[in-house]
Amino acid sequence: MTNNNLQHIAVIMDGNGRWAAKRGLPRNAGHKKGAEVVIETAKAVKELGVPYLTIYAFSTENWKRSKQEVDGLMNLLRQYLDSNFEELEKNDVRIRFIGERGMLDADIVNKMENLEKRTISNRSLVLQIALSYGSRQEIVNAVRRTAQKVKNGELAITDIDENEFSQMLYTAEVPDPDLLIRTSGEQRLSNYLLWQLAYTELFFTNTLWPDFNKEELKSIIENYKTRERRYGKA
Ligand code: FPP
Repeated sequence: MTNNNLQHIAVIMDGNGRWAAKRGLPRNAGHKKGAEVVIETAKAVKELGVPYLTIYAFSTENWKRSKQEVDGLMNLLRQYLDSNFEELEKNDVRIRFIGERGMLDADIVNKMENLEKRTISNRSLVLQIALSYGSRQEIVNAVRRTAQKVKNGELAITDIDENEFSQMLYTAEVPDPDLLIRTSGEQRLSNYLLWQLAYTELFFTNTLWPDFNKEELKSIIENYKTRERRYGKA
């Protein structure tokens, strides 16, 4: 039996809308419950001794949802930035955001930067929140930054390798995810961490995100530990 090292879990939190619809509630009620589950999951990941967690809170494509839903999500985020993340802060969790900040309202970006600064020395868990995030955009930005360095004479074309390129991504210095969990039964990557997930073990569960809990997380980790990771080797 293998016993894989587990440093980083990535999550696609899907199914909030269906969870709400099943109860006759508006979609944003599902996001509200989903956000509570984010806090519980981060605490559980920390307690299980896994040092990195990356969650997909809002994709670049999510801007196309109704104004009501987008506004609801942004206001939920404001509320968490103002007070609900405090619990994680006290739990020694470092919070950082990955994504296109230019598309977010200035007050939100300001609150995000404050939270990042306040938690920069926390060590028990790094929680990366992907917000207005799209993996292809991230890669294109990284190509642009790399090209600019070459143009400035700071980097030789022959020095561009996987390591160098990884450092141009939002996730620079964070190890690649070992395990990706997607809830709600959908089996796709939805423009999430495409570069970083190259060798990640994928796990799909039918549970809707608002129903996800520590027990299920533990059983997924047990499953992960039994998998044989070969990285292309025979
Ligand atoms: C996918 O479910 C979920 C989202 C697009 C949003 C995820 C956001 C949260 C869980 C809240 C995060 C908030 C904070 C403050 C961190 P869906 O809406 O696509 O569900 P459906 O597929 O059932 O419609």
